[in-house]
Amino acid sequence: MLEAKSASTATPQSNPVQNSLFLKALRKEQINRTPIWFMRQAGRYMPEYRQMRAKVKDFIAMCQDPQMAADVTMLPINRFDLDAAIIFSDILLIGQAMGQELAFVENKGPVFEAIQKEEDIAKLDEHHAAERLSFVFDAIQLAVKALDNTPLIGFCGSPWTVATYMVEGGTSKDFAKIKSFAWRNPNALRSLINKLTQVSLDYLIAQAQAGVQALMIFDTWGGILADDPYRMFSLSPIQTLIQGLRENPITKDIPLIFFGKGKHNLYPELVALGTDALSIDWTVSLGWVRQQTQDKVVLQGNLDPTVLLGSPDYLEAQIAQIIQDMQGGHHIFNLGHGVLPQTDPEQVVRMIQWVKHYSQQG
Ligand code: CP3
Repeated sequence: MLEAKSASTATPQSNPVQNSLFLKALRKEQINRTPIWFMRQAGRYMPEYRQMRAKVKDFIAMCQDPQMAADVTMLPINRFDLDAAIIFSDILLIGQAMGQELAFVENKGPVFEAIQKEEDIAKLDEHHAAERLSFVFDAIQLAVKALDNTPLIGFCGSPWTVATYMVEGGTSKDFAKIKSFAWRNPNALRSLINKLTQVSLDYLIAQAQAGVQALMIFDTWGGILADDPYRMFSLSPIQTLIQGLRENPITKDIPLIFFGKGKHNLYPELVALGTDALSIDWTVSLGWVRQQTQDKVVLQGNLDPTVLLGSPDYLEAQIAQIIQDMQGGHHIFNLGHGVLPQTDPEQVVRMIQWVKHYSQQG
């Protein structure tokens, strides 16, 4: 009863999607089993995805076609019994929308024309960038209709994580370019990160306006920084972003999930971000993370994606362990990072069944 009283005027009861297990879990309400979705659930491990991808020029073209992006979002929902969908897009598109050329190259990944100097940053347009991503908002509207009562997650990358690709020119092993840039010209890097923070805020608000029911921020590369630069370049802009979301009437109540890969020693500070959930990578046990976070936030995760490449017995045991670690806590099952392209969809079917089996109450 208390729950109902404290809820905002758009009461969960009046909107069936708000009664979904996933959104109930994010509100820490009583549920009878653990909800499950997983990162990159619409991707290359699915033959249907590979077929659709073969029909278009490249991955970006797929994202830019709202109907196709909505259809791809639906692929895993139609094939598996999942509790949430995530809009099919990519964190790097905002760099492109700010005016930096981006390509996805086969067998290589994303390639940006790398930022090298302050003038490259000055040229980036943060004011109208979110508007140039209107194809994402159109895709969200189409996906929400198709999803019916399955919730849809919108997302962006953390300003730091997106900046790593923009400065490195793509994926990196040692992040020497962005780190040396940070140690030589911190003010210039800060100006890039400030621009990205502004665009990310506009972008997430517009995704909420288009209809997503939850938002996730991916900070895949914060963990490569020592604590102090992490606070300066990664955590602090994320705080600004979250504060902006909480101050905006459209996003003030929307559930937020933060994926901060690899920064385990700072869990108390990640909890202080005030997101509803933290998404956890696979290198720590959820039992330990619960101690660190004292059950203050919902934990999402954290099966090692390579376990799906192992034997069904090993997969089952690892799932049972995660569910047991989270017993009596607040949990959304997920992988510790994106599903790998070589994953057998049959293993995904087993994973979903076992999560349901082991977490079912009564
Ligand atoms: O999770 C989902 O299914 C939603 C869609 C989504 C994609 N990328 C689709 C995608 C999301 C949430 C992302 C986030 C993303 N993109 C991150 C943060 C999370 C993470 O995985 O660390 C990062 C760092 C990126 C940048 C990116 N996009 C890289 C480095 C690559 C190439 C590596 C790879 O996996 O191919 C991509 C491409 C990408 N993004 C694909 C998909 C489905 C593969 C595209 C293809 O070749 O078909």
